[in-house]
Amino acid sequence: KYLQEDDVSEDCKKLLSTLPKQKGWVGSYVYNYQGFWALPRLIQGVIACQRQFQAEDNDIILVTAPKSGTTWLKALLFSLVNRKKYPIFKKNHPLLVKNPHDLVPLLEQDLYVDGQVPDFSLFTSPRLMATHVPFASLPKSVQNSRTKLVYLCRNPRDTFISMWQFTNNLRLDSHRDTNSIEEMFDHFCKGVGLYGPFWSHVLGYWKESIENPDKVLFLMYEEIKKQPKIQLKRMAEFLDCPFSIEEEDCRVVDEILRMCSFGNLRNVEVNVNGKMSAGMANKNFFRRGEVGDWKNYFTVEMNDKLNYIVEQKFHGCGLKF
Ligand code: A3P
Repeated sequence: KYLQEDDVSEDCKKLLSTLPKQKGWVGSYVYNYQGFWALPRLIQGVIACQRQFQAEDNDIILVTAPKSGTTWLKALLFSLVNRKKYPIFKKNHPLLVKNPHDLVPLLEQDLYVDGQVPDFSLFTSPRLMATHVPFASLPKSVQNSRTKLVYLCRNPRDTFISMWQFTNNLRLDSHRDTNSIEEMFDHFCKGVGLYGPFWSHVLGYWKESIENPDKVLFLMYEEIKKQPKIQLKRMAEFLDCPFSIEEEDCRVVDEILRMCSFGNLRNVEVNVNGKMSAGMANKNFFRRGEVGDWKNYFTVEMNDKLNYIVEQKFHGCGLKF
């Protein structure tokens, strides 16, 4: 329902009329609020969350640019931090009956989108939430508290292809025509991506993770694919819940990775036939789940153009794509 463009308050409509806008990925337009591009209802959600959300010191917030692997990381973090409450070997594990997005809500999209006051009494401790908001636009209490941020980044080429495919599926679901790859690539290169520019999003959290490594853990989708055990243990240590020797001996680490793997999650009944509370089919979040699928779509020209931009934007920062 957050895709319905007119479903925003009068105040938000007034604000939108003053913001720069561009052709949308999902709906008609995306708007530029505080330097990033987003859908109307999500801007409403961001503003409400900036005004109201009170972070607590032991909160954990997963941050991603959309299509970077949010679904996977939500599943991994949920299993990791709740492994005493929901042992990973139990047959009734929540990931077997709920989509990861229904277990780890997005602040601006699920919790604050309608200006409602979220019922945090339903959360277990530590509270686990997610957001796509760039670092500079996070609610002040997140920046000022000891809340931990886990940031997941993905190669911009795969992120772009995933976003183009995903948003076209949503357009088809709401009986719109699809966007061509050429047009959306041009958009992406100009920085007009959901919550983009992509590079500003990544660099904001990258810088913070270097200056404040106890606050922000910076992860790469590709590295988790390559060395899943090492990366999951890194997450556990960062979140002050390292695996014990007994847990390692009982293969808890392997079982969390197996439970959250693409092959397993995409075949769980709720992800095959279920819908999110926001109305979207869960299966949309499981496409290929691979590294390098962009090679099946990029022309030489597209590759050259994005290489040039990536080189310019990330030059000297220590990140390589
Ligand atoms: P592809 O479109 O390249 O397949 P998000 O969760 O941020 O919306 O990102 C979705 C991307 O993550 C999709 O990428 C999706 O297939 C992939 N994905 C979903 N679940 C995954 C998992 N368990 N492991 C690895 N990738 C996963």
